[in-house]
Amino acid sequence: MSRALTFGTRADAYDRLRPAPAAEALDHVLPPGARRVADLAAGTGLVTRAVLARPAAPGVVVAVEPAPRMLARLAATTPGARAVHGVAEAIPLASGALDAVLASSAWHWFDPPVATAEIARVLRPGGVLGLLWSRADPTVGWVAGVRGIGKAAADGSATLSRRGFDIVLPPGHGFVDELPEAVTVRWTRAMSRDDVARMVCTYSGVLELPAAEQDAVHRAAREYLDGTFPGDGELEVPFETVVRRWTRS
Ligand SMILES: C[S@@+](CC[C@H](N)C(=O)[O-])C[C@H]1O[C@@H](n2cnc3c(N)ncnc32)[C@H](O)[C@@H]1O
Repeated sequence: MSRALTFGTRADAYDRLRPAPAAEALDHVLPPGARRVADLAAGTGLVTRAVLARPAAPGVVVAVEPAPRMLARLAATTPGARAVHGVAEAIPLASGALDAVLASSAWHWFDPPVATAEIARVLRPGGVLGLLWSRADPTVGWVAGVRGIGKAAADGSATLSRRGFDIVLPPGHGFVDELPEAVTVRWTRAMSRDDVARMVCTYSGVLELPAAEQDAVHRAAREYLDGTFPGDGELEVPFETVVRRWTRS
């Protein structure tokens, strides 16, 4: 199985534990009056559902996702969306069909020149590309500590996250950078320490490890949390959603 498809092996845990974007973050990437929106690399539909939950939800929301088990979970939990199998490099949608394309925690999986051309093709002139990343806030010491356990076990995943938000889209497709300074929205969510430890195991670098090694990451993460926080109460986990936006001329 390619690394990009490993998420499907724990689609239920992914959907339950990974963060949906802050509602306020979507304000920065969804143009007012957007009627036709695609969630590219939609995973289990965390962003798709957040888009559908907006007060003025778009009339058409298409979720495009290549991992069959992620797409199945999305289809089961996101009845308002059209769930479509596909990749960013060959988007199975008509040219000029969309007011906005969103992609969350996914740009690093794409082939940027090919995906950019495809996104430009499916957007109407004036349409918006919004990139988002939602994650536990790595600037908080204990979050970095517990995520570091997964990264240390998963050779290479740190490299992926280091690629960061300084994205320059390939030229020639008419994209105008509207938010060169990424906008960050922060919030917190109460989680059990076991769920935090299991969330660490929903990253691709851990997911591609043998099951026994994934269990070891979970145990080590749980021990780290128990050692860091006295008692056994829930943790108030700090999260962030980082946003970039381009308009297609
Ligand atoms: C970290 S998950 C993000 C899922 C969802 N957007 C979210 O925010 O929870 C990355 C997703 O990208 C998908 N993916 C990987 N390569 C892709 C590609 N070339 N085109 C579209 N999706 C891809 C994976 O299957 C996975 O569901």
